[in-house]
Amino acid sequence: MGHDLVIVANRLPVDRAERPDGTSEWRPSPGGLVTAIEPVMRAENGVWLGWPGGTEQDLEPFEVDGLDLHPMSMTAEEIEGHYEGFSNGTLWPLYHDLVAKPEFHREWWDSYVAVNRRFADQAAELANEGALVWVQDYQMQLVPQMLRELRPDLRIGFYLHIPFPPAELFQQLPWRRQLLEGLLGADLVGFQLPGGAANFVRLVRQRVGHKTHRDLVYLPDGRTVRAAAFPISIDTQGFEELAQTPEVTARTKEIRSALGDPRKIFLGIDRLDYTKGIYARLRAYAELLADDHFDVEDAVFVQVAVPSREQVEEYQRLRDETDRLVGRINGDHGKIGRPAISYLHSSYPREEMAALYRAADIMVVTPYRDGMNLVAKEYVASQYDDAGALVLSEFAGAADELRQAWLVNPYDINGMKSALLEAYQADEKDLVKRMKAMRKTVKKHDVAAWADSFMTALADVRDHRKTVRPSRSRSDG
Ligand code: G6P
Repeated sequence: MGHDLVIVANRLPVDRAERPDGTSEWRPSPGGLVTAIEPVMRAENGVWLGWPGGTEQDLEPFEVDGLDLHPMSMTAEEIEGHYEGFSNGTLWPLYHDLVAKPEFHREWWDSYVAVNRRFADQAAELANEGALVWVQDYQMQLVPQMLRELRPDLRIGFYLHIPFPPAELFQQLPWRRQLLEGLLGADLVGFQLPGGAANFVRLVRQRVGHKTHRDLVYLPDGRTVRAAAFPISIDTQGFEELAQTPEVTARTKEIRSALGDPRKIFLGIDRLDYTKGIYARLRAYAELLADDHFDVEDAVFVQVAVPSREQVEEYQRLRDETDRLVGRINGDHGKIGRPAISYLHSSYPREEMAALYRAADIMVVTPYRDGMNLVAKEYVASQYDDAGALVLSEFAGAADELRQAWLVNPYDINGMKSALLEAYQADEKDLVKRMKAMRKTVKKHDVAAWADSFMTALADVRDHRKTVRPSRSRSDG
């Protein structure tokens, strides 16, 4: 039996976990993408197609917590070429403002094409007549077109979770036209912010030569593709409820007391990624200590760095640099039993994350570029008592919505120092006012609203294409 909804993503929403007896089991992974899509999956009885990690071949479809999962195997060569190579060595840095230098290798591209083709073939097999296929993120940008060719009956949506760069950067890609055409296989291409959608439409007009009007692209075969922004969010209520459980409350106390019950706790939680600005924020913090604005008896910085893409060279370098910086800061400013930075290179389940959010007085989110940043929203959702401060980079998508945060430019160390200090010294009235406003936003725009608006817009594009055709050629600038 086929499916009426097929999610195509690079990863499955589960991780392999070891049981105490040495056997292993699949557990839902705590990542942002999963939280975002799971509710829609359940509602529509869908199937999720993706790579479970590792190189195990010939995996059978399976179920976790009632979700149908269809594992796609990857060979070691595919992981190197498609995942570590083209996805994370070329596209990731290119789409994040060249924070690191992207590498362009023809073998990586070939592997990206081959893996996208395999995912498209499999999706075509699993989808019922007229089904909805929702393709996720930068690792899968060729899937929409490949799938459209195989199955013109399908409704295809694509959502990019990371930023879509300005034409001036995207232009560098030797395969720019193929990627644009790949995305144009979808009926609806979703972005985090309006700027990303506008970049895409402009590129399509300039590079592919299709007619466009506002957020619509008119293809020669009569199809219309819409490109629009759908800022992603979190399960706000779920997080708020989790944060209030007795277990999380007890764990929060334990964390604060293990840290020596300092006056204020600063917190950073990020994948260890060079886009996240961890190095700069720790430097800003260390300078505040050096300038005697507070000392390690008053405050501590907890930095959780979740291991990520560890085979990619840039990530290995980042880990070394971060280790060295943390060591130096602790060496310079720490006292016995009182490190300046409590640094954890590990990933944690949702419950522990919620306890950390609750324990933190000041959440510090300072990416150089970030599609959205769900950590910022999770922190806000966890502050059910309207306490806590958020220091947030202007260059995170979340800054468009969380205007009451202390917004910072992560390239400006002095500016970050001022913001960290202001958040540290802020009076309760100011904190509550800001947090209340931000909580209102994340409550209203939660993940259910996000999925809903994407699905509705997808249905609308199809209707639109039946009724409206451009009366004359136009190419608006
Ligand atoms: C970002 C991307 C996701 C990706 C996640 C984790 O959020 O948008 O597509 O799955 O990072 O990265 P990884 O390389 O471990 O899948």
